[in-house]
Amino acid sequence: MSAIPTAAEVLDGIDLSGRTALVSGGYSGIGVEVVRALAGAGARVLAPARRPAKAAEVLAGIEGVEVGELDLADQGSVASYADSLLAAGRPLDFVIANAGVMACPETRVGAGWELQLATNHLGHFALVNRLWPLIGPGARVVSVSSTGHHLSGIRWDDPWFETGYDKWQAYGQSKTANVLFAVHLAALAQGREVRAYSLHPGAILTPLGRHLQADDLDAVMTLDESGQPVLPDFRSPEQGAATAVWAATSTELDEHSGAYLEDCHLAEVVGPGPQTTYGVKDYALDPDDAARLWAWSAEQTGLDAFSSGT
Ligand SMILES: NC(=O)c1ccc[n+]([C@@H]2O[C@H](COP(=O)([O-])OP(=O)(O)OC[C@H]3O[C@@H](n4cnc5c(N)ncnc54)[C@H](OP(=O)(O)O)[C@@H]3O)[C@@H](O)[C@H]2O)c1
Repeated sequence: MSAIPTAAEVLDGIDLSGRTALVSGGYSGIGVEVVRALAGAGARVLAPARRPAKAAEVLAGIEGVEVGELDLADQGSVASYADSLLAAGRPLDFVIANAGVMACPETRVGAGWELQLATNHLGHFALVNRLWPLIGPGARVVSVSSTGHHLSGIRWDDPWFETGYDKWQAYGQSKTANVLFAVHLAALAQGREVRAYSLHPGAILTPLGRHLQADDLDAVMTLDESGQPVLPDFRSPEQGAATAVWAATSTELDEHSGAYLEDCHLAEVVGPGPQTTYGVKDYALDPDDAARLWAWSAEQTGLDAFSSGT
């Protein structure tokens, strides 16, 4: 195995026959390789897409994949897709919440929600809460976050950027939300033996960077010892998919539900201080903030699978 394994290498020797995975954004970048690896190990894979025709084209030839229609930025679309799965009634063993947008121009959806938080967090929050009846004992929910969560915690005083938009703060906030979501889901789902994780997949050249401008390079560069900017250590999409499939399947993680992962290991917790290119910020693991975000998200979406009141 190479230093950074591929998703197929992580799943080598693991038989997922009879298991079902749902992978959002499974028709581009990292997601395609998550789908390919899980299907290659024998799983049936649901690949909901906001562009189903594109997804069918990209995923043609991978056996065991079912494309569906889902726009995570549209709560009505999330409801329709979830209803179709609930009607079919087949249990889900893995939910890989991978789809995402990054640093896009200010865009409002639904009730005026900012697009990155609406898509990256609230779309997946609604999807998992709606699909909860299908997510039974032994299942895992994996939230694909990013080191980008270092850019912002939850902006409790202005989550929707009503006082001025910053595309990197918005991405950072949404990626912190991905981590906090897994933290609180892990706590809520303990009794049902469902586990939840979040992760940074590494830096991979994918269409995610479609909104980047020349001056955004600073946001993705690090400085070497002499202070010169260097590009991230890019990895292939197959390597970028490795930590997600590891999170979904590794028995090493059984006792670590709620953890944030990178490079197929538990990430180091980093506190305030200089920006790092690794690790998980302590604010993203805060259980009180995780509970607060869950309650806020339930209020925004009107959904909470763990409350009899919604
Ligand atoms: N690439 C990296 O270096 C990197 C680093 C850290 C974290 N990540 C995270 O990894 C995940 C995957 O990123 P990627 O690099 O593979 O990006 P990508 O190639 O752009 O894939 C993102 C996928 O999400 C889908 N998506 C976006 N908005 C959606 C919506 N409203 N409804 C449904 N699907 C939607 C996209 O669909 P369309 O094709 O239709 O737009 C696409 O299939 C993201 O969560 C990202 O934050 C990536």
